[in-house]
Formats: sequence, structure tokens, C-alpha cells
Amino acid sequence: MATILGGLTTSHIPLIGKAIAENLRDEPYWQPFFAGFPPAHEWLARVKPDVAVVVYNDHGLNFFLDKMPTFAIGAAAEYRNADEGWGIPTLPPFKGHADLSWHIIESVVAEEFDPVTCQEMLVDHGFSLPMKLFWPSGAWPVRVVPVSVNTVQHPLPSPARCLKFGRAIGRAIASYPEDLRVVVIGTGGLSHQLDGTRAGFINKEFDLMCMQKIVDDPEALARYSILELVRLAGAQGVELVNWLVTRGALTGAVRRVHSNYHVPISNTATGLMVLENRA
Ligand code: DHB
Ligand code: FE
Repeated sequence: MATILGGLTTSHIPLIGKAIAENLRDEPYWQPFFAGFPPAHEWLARVKPDVAVVVYNDHGLNFFLDKMPTFAIGAAAEYRNADEGWGIPTLPPFKGHADLSWHIIESVVAEEFDPVTCQEMLVDHGFSLPMKLFWPSGAWPVRVVPVSVNTVQHPLPSPARCLKFGRAIGRAIASYPEDLRVVVIGTGGLSHQLDGTRAGFINKEFDLMCMQKIVDDPEALARYSILELVRLAGAQGVELVNWLVTRGALTGAVRRVHSNYHVPISNTATGLMVLENRA
């Protein structure tokens, strides 16, 4: 049977791609952000996953406002990254695990979730940069299953719905018959707002509370409405729901292995967590 080793969560910001490409990791602006990652690398080297299920939001590369699925799951042999107009270098394609994808799709549909199934899917910075942050060599030792959540065009799925979706994904992974070692990666957040009169909005107190609750009381976060999340975390801070899907997939007792919080990178409060799933 497949084993869920744990969850990794990180912010995704296009500027990170530029910092990696230009080798700016040790610059004073970037050092406190990149310094958070070695413990995640050490944990990954220890637990040796075969597959990463990556929960993120597409920002207009694969889905645009004309067709916006609430939830979508990739079921392809390969996922290509493409330039989204940020001018960041594209990364090599990611190898999919289509058989696990279809198993997850069948299982969540049986539980009354209705994701769009994507046999072709481009992946944007919300997917690719976390992969590069967690495996900096770029030789991905994992196959991937992309799970996209709409955090862009309202109405968005509620935090409660996202936690339940994550739990359904967790049950799906745990029931996969092959011996696979799986990590779940949630990307986005923490507080940020890119547009409007509150552009640059950050709420450190709320972010730190979320990082605590995501470990020991995700239900508390599931009680917020999307509108409350917009108020408390900013219009794009709602990407926190990707962390809730990830947390939902962890079916065991969750131990915080590592976390890092740094404000700001670009317009965003960055958070990183490594959560071990204990059967
Ligand atoms: C920024 C943050 C994001 O989550 C994103 O998708 C794009 C840009 C930023 O802070 O610049
Ligand atoms: Fe984003």
C-alpha cells in the first residue's frame, strides 16, 4: 500500500525563480528565505519519496477566467512548465504518475468531489518553483500528481471544503495498492495582496497563528469563510487553502519537523513547513 510520509508547504513567488537563476541565494535580501530550506532537504533525503502530490493554484497559465475549475487533477505522463510572462526561466518537464492520478480521481469522485481531469496540463510557478526549492538540483527524484485549486476567480471553494478535499485525497493515496512513498506539497500564501488599495498587505500575527493551527487544529482554520480569509490574509492570501488541502491529506498524527517564516519576499509573507505524518 502507498504510504503518506508527510506534507511540505511553501510560498511560491515568481521572483524566487529569478533569484535562483541569478544565483542570489546568499544575498542579504534572500538569505533568510533560502536558509529555511536545508532542513526540508535533509528530511526529504531521509524519507525518500517516490511521488509528490502537489496542491497549488494555477494563475492563468493552464486555466484562464473563461474556464476555471474549482478543483483539477493532472493525469498525464508529463507536465511542462511554460513562461507565464514573468520572464522567469522555465524548468524541465516533470514526470507524472498517471496511474496514481487516476486512482485519486476515481476515489475522490466516489466521495462526491468532481475535479476536472487533465490529460494535458501546463504547470506554472505555483507548481514549478516549490519543486525547485525542495529539490534544488532539478533532477526530480519523484514523479508528480498536480492538484489545482481555484484561488483566482470567485466563488472559491471554502476552507472547510478544501480540508475535506484533502482528507479524500489522503484516503485515496492510502488505498493505492502499490508500495509507494508519497509526500504531499502545498504551495502559496501566506498573507499577501497584489492589487487594489491594500496592495502589500501582510498580517504576521494571523500567519503565525495559521502555521500553528495547520499542525494541531486545522479545523479552526476551516471555520473561516473565504471573505474572512481575504480580510485577514489579503486577496491572494487565500492561497492558504492549498495548505489546508495538504494538511487534510495527512491522515496520521502530525509532527512539525521544521518551519520558517520570513517577511517579505516581493509582496508576500513567506512560510515553510515540514510536517511528518505518523501512522
Ligand atoms: C507574488 C506572490 C504570488 O503568490 C504570486 O502567485 C505572484 C506574485 C508576489 O508577491 O510577487
Ligand atoms: Fe500565487
